[in-house]
Amino acid sequence: MNKRILLVNGPNLNLLGVREPSTYGTDTLDDVVALAERTAAERGFDVRHVQSNHEGVLLDAIHAARLECDAVVINPGAFTHTSVALRDALTGIALPFAEVHLSNVHAREEFRHRSYLSDVASFVIVGAGIRGYEFAVSRVIDLVAP
Ligand code: DQA
Repeated sequence: MNKRILLVNGPNLNLLGVREPSTYGTDTLDDVVALAERTAAERGFDVRHVQSNHEGVLLDAIHAARLECDAVVINPGAFTHTSVALRDALTGIALPFAEVHLSNVHAREEFRHRSYLSDVASFVIVGAGIRGYEFAVSRVIDLVAP
C-alpha cells in the first residue's frame, strides 16, 4: 500500500475558474487539488496531481501510478469522449479509478453523453462541481483501505 492517490485532470481544466464559470463554477484547479489533498490527508493518504492538455503526458502519469499509487481519480475533460488510449491505460494498470465531471454531462450536448471510461470505472460522479472530487477521493480510499 503506497497510501497515495493519483489525481488526473485533463485538457482545459487548467482554466478552471475563468473557463465558462456558469458551467464549471468559479473554483480554480488549485482549489480542486487542495480539496483532494485535504480529503486524502484525513485518511492518511497523499495526492499526486497531474494536469495536462497533452494526452501522452496523462498516459505516462497513469502508467507511473501502477506501482506507486493505490487508486486514481480522473476528470479526463474532453478526452472522456474520444480516448480509447486513456481507457486502455486505466484498465492496463488495473487500479480502481473514479471518473469525475464537474458538470452534468448528460444534460449537455449529445457528444458528451458517451464516455470511453464509465463502464470500466469503479464509479462515476457527474454534476456535483468540485465536491465530486471530494467524494471520489474519499470513496476510492474506502475501496483500497476498507
Ligand atoms: C468535463 C466535461 C467534458 O465534457 C468537458 O470536455 C470538460 C470538462 C467536466 O468536468 O464537466 O472539459 O469533464
